Amino acid sequence: MKCKDKAAIVTGAASGIGARAAVRLAMEGARVFLVDVNAEGLRETAEEIRSFGGEAIAWPCDVSDEAAVKAAAAQALAAFSRIDILVNVAGVQITKLLADTTKADYDKMMNVNLGGTFLMMREVLPQMKAQRSGAIVNCASELAFVGYEELAVYTATKGAMVSLSRSAALEAIPYGVRVNCVCPGATDTPIFWEGETDPEKRQKLLEQVRVEKPIGRLITTDEVANGILFLASEEASGVVGACLVIDGGFTAQ
Ligand SMILES: NC(=O)c1ccc[n+]([C@@H]2O[C@H](COP(=O)([O-])OP(=O)(O)OC[C@H]3O[C@@H](n4cnc5c(N)ncnc54)[C@H](O)[C@@H]3O)[C@@H](O)[C@H]2O)c1
Repeated sequence: MKCKDKAAIVTGAASGIGARAAVRLAMEGARVFLVDVNAEGLRETAEEIRSFGGEAIAWPCDVSDEAAVKAAAAQALAAFSRIDILVNVAGVQITKLLADTTKADYDKMMNVNLGGTFLMMREVLPQMKAQRSGAIVNCASELAFVGYEELAVYTATKGAMVSLSRSAALEAIPYGVRVNCVCPGATDTPIFWEGETDPEKRQKLLEQVRVEKPIGRLITTDEVANGILFLASEEASGVVGACLVIDGGFTAQ
């Protein structure tokens, strides 16, 4: 087991990549503190973890709310007495031309994607530094490195998450704490489908992926969770301030 007896916080744990990462961390022996705004989704992830004997605490929380993040981090520490792993996955994507993007859209994406990652790291880093060990994995995107139409602000939040992680990594590593990013490509989760249920339109989206992405398909949540698990584990003991790109070759083009 890669994470036996480790205490982990995973944000965005109600759905998609965060839910899968939380389950996989628990399968590797971690006790997991699950954070998300979606209380029902959190309950389902916690149930899945408990179904195989894992330990999970579901904690509804908006990661863009400073007081709520402080309370969540304090609760996780009170429950586990230490924090070994923090995985920041909570995120939102609003797809619009820049000219149509409202200030509210901008604030939402910045405050959740970048702000939530900043707030969680700020609360957890002092504890990890005091322990003189810990691993933080932030979920950025392939779109941190390339532009994409109708996603200008989203890509900016992801680029900023990479910058934030690199600088935080330099501050943290003297204390034995590693900070890294995982950068997924188009992954089979609700964010990718954006609520699209029409089978024809879904087929069109898949066709676009087949043409755009060298791998010719969507990335799976397990493929991203594999990267998160690696960066969170001792196997990545020399990996600091890095971006593990899991995009099926999109940014290699
Ligand atoms: N799916 C993709 O194609 C893809 C590609 C690259 C990066 N990502 C990133 O992966 C991360 C996870 O997304 P996903 O694909 O699993 O989608 P998802 O929609 O399944 O998961 C996102 C989760 O974040 C939660 N969330 C949203 N706002 C929140 C807030 N304010 N506080 C707490 N939780 C909040 C949602 O409730 C949801 O459970 C996101 O940061 C996303 O930007 C996704």
